[in-house]
Amino acid sequence: MINIAIDGPSGAGKSTVAKAVAEKLDILYLDTGAMYRACGLYALRKGINPEDEREVKKILPEINVDVLYKNGTQITLLNGEDVSMQIREHKISKAASDISKHKQVRIKLVDMQRKIAAKTSVVLDGRDIGTYVLPNCKNKFYLTASVKVRAERRFKELKEKGAECNFDTLYNDIIQRDYNDTHRDFAPLKQADDAVFIDSSNMTKEQVRDYILERLNI
Ligand code: DC
Repeated sequence: MINIAIDGPSGAGKSTVAKAVAEKLDILYLDTGAMYRACGLYALRKGINPEDEREVKKILPEINVDVLYKNGTQITLLNGEDVSMQIREHKISKAASDISKHKQVRIKLVDMQRKIAAKTSVVLDGRDIGTYVLPNCKNKFYLTASVKVRAERRFKELKEKGAECNFDTLYNDIIQRDYNDTHRDFAPLKQADDAVFIDSSNMTKEQVRDYILERLNI
């Protein structure tokens, strides 16, 4: 059994690298951000401001997030509905960041993440995996890159998909999400003391993957 925690800010390439590591080791990859995104999507559908703790608390019992795997790929379910595509929409990124600051939301999702990690070998990516979800994990990595590089990567990705996007907006969104994620009171984004720090600004995805694979305590 192995658990690998990869934390870091938005757009650092965590999910790409986590998937590549999981594939090499033939284990699961758990995208914990997708779970917060599903909660954010539910709030928006209900017309609720994800920042409003009182309103979020009221709808929380109605939210059932689940993950399952089809050919090794994570499918994220919101009350049984496959929302894997919708949660990638731009407006959901902000909603997820906003809703994730509420303690009750985190406790609900962290409980699921711990249960999955306890029974399966898995690479988890997120913000608080090494600091809060799995503090005793023996393989912790903190992956980051400069804001400029992260915005450029996102810009390229969206352009390739043919989506409308503006570089300055993406750049500012990243700064805002970094601020949100590092400044919330409960389980904020923070490098764990025992995590290996990786700045991927000048590294390819394969280099980051191999760097991680070489440093695993298996
Ligand atoms: O990794 P992502 O961009 O899909 O995550 C969306 C938001 O969810 C992110 O801005 C903060 C939140 N999140 C979190 O608080 N804790 C996690 N473990 C994963 C994501």
